[in-house]
Amino acid sequence: MDRDDTSRWDRLAGTDGTALLDRLAGADRSGDAALRLGTALRREYDAGLVADAMTLTELRDRASAKFTLAGRMWFTRDGLEQASSEVLARHRAARFAGRDRVADLCCGIGGDLVALAVAGHEVTGVDLDPTHLWMAGRNATAHGAAVRTVRADVRDADLSGVDGVFVDPARRSAGGRMRTGDSEPPLGWCLDLAGRTGAAGIKAAPGIDHGTVPPEWELEFLALGRELKESALWSPALAGARTRATVFDPAGTHTIAGDPDPADGDTGVAVGPPGAWLLDPNPAVTRAGLVSQLARRTATTRIDPRIAFLTTDDEPAPTPFARVLRVLDSRPWDQKRLPRLLRELDVGAVDVRRRGLAGDVEALARTLRGRGSRHATVVMTRVDDRPWGLVCVAP
Ligand SMILES: C[S@@+](CC[C@H](N)C(=O)[O-])C[C@H]1O[C@@H](n2cnc3c(N)ncnc32)[C@H](O)[C@@H]1O
Repeated sequence: MDRDDTSRWDRLAGTDGTALLDRLAGADRSGDAALRLGTALRREYDAGLVADAMTLTELRDRASAKFTLAGRMWFTRDGLEQASSEVLARHRAARFAGRDRVADLCCGIGGDLVALAVAGHEVTGVDLDPTHLWMAGRNATAHGAAVRTVRADVRDADLSGVDGVFVDPARRSAGGRMRTGDSEPPLGWCLDLAGRTGAAGIKAAPGIDHGTVPPEWELEFLALGRELKESALWSPALAGARTRATVFDPAGTHTIAGDPDPADGDTGVAVGPPGAWLLDPNPAVTRAGLVSQLARRTATTRIDPRIAFLTTDDEPAPTPFARVLRVLDSRPWDQKRLPRLLRELDVGAVDVRRRGLAGDVEALARTLRGRGSRHATVVMTRVDDRPWGLVCVAP
């Protein structure tokens, strides 16, 4: 089907399409039931319309992990995969407070565009893909918001009157995912937007190289729970720190910011051997280089200047920025002795955390699994530059 042909989507949004989508939303679509339903619907409706309705219904189901109103939204498969989750998009949209007219360049199906519109900005979405633009407009309407959409190469977009710009460049092409650091348009072009509009935010991959971020810009890492999702670059007008780690969990949004730990490992935070408790920082914190900042906040010490585990002898308060573990055993790494040690500690299921040591964590976890009643985390790491092992449990 031609991606330029939005009449296909107009038809799906029309009377027959809407009736079909409503029937599918309420129907049993598991296994064979989906086949029977498809056959029955094709007796009443055009086969192409049924196929589109079934695909969109499946995508809406999947999109409920990202969007509260997924059941009313419009997606293509790759548009959904590339779309920002609502919670992340709303957090980013809030950074544009005080900006009146914001352009969302490469708006896709509108994950970020809708969040910017809902936040009260006058927004224009620009994309080359007419299907995505059509869907972005519909998705704004589903949220009671209005947006302007423009089909253009973002390089040709008219940014006059715009006082803030957000860009989420494509990181995949028809051939699949691009190389780390590559995007369309490239990062250098996106960075120049700040000079043209006064304020720019750029969505980037979580693996972004800190060295690509200009001085005075902020680099933020965003994690949903312990899953690192993406990064964002904020131009000086929107920046609040050099780096930031933002964690979203059911209790809310938590953020810490500051200067990243220096590469030479001298962070000014005390270093000492593992005590009774271990803190395993959230990946957003480690990627932001804010482990020492977290150590100061939690009154903990580092187990090694270059290793991102923190420790304390006193039970730490729960923190959204780290997983807290109780240490059952701590000693130089001795893989041969580990199975006996785990038996003595009544450990059965095991997961392995590795930091600073090489090893296949999956294979090791399989070989260490025992019959005991406790679930333990085996930590392979370095202390004072020596291979070290810890057996820990959740408190
Ligand atoms: C990562 S997606 C955007 C996702 C969006 N932020 C969201 O949350 O739904 C990237 C989009 O960039 C568009 N794109 C890529 N290169 C472009 C260009 N040169 N001009 C305009 N749009 C472009 C693609 O069509 C795609 O829809």
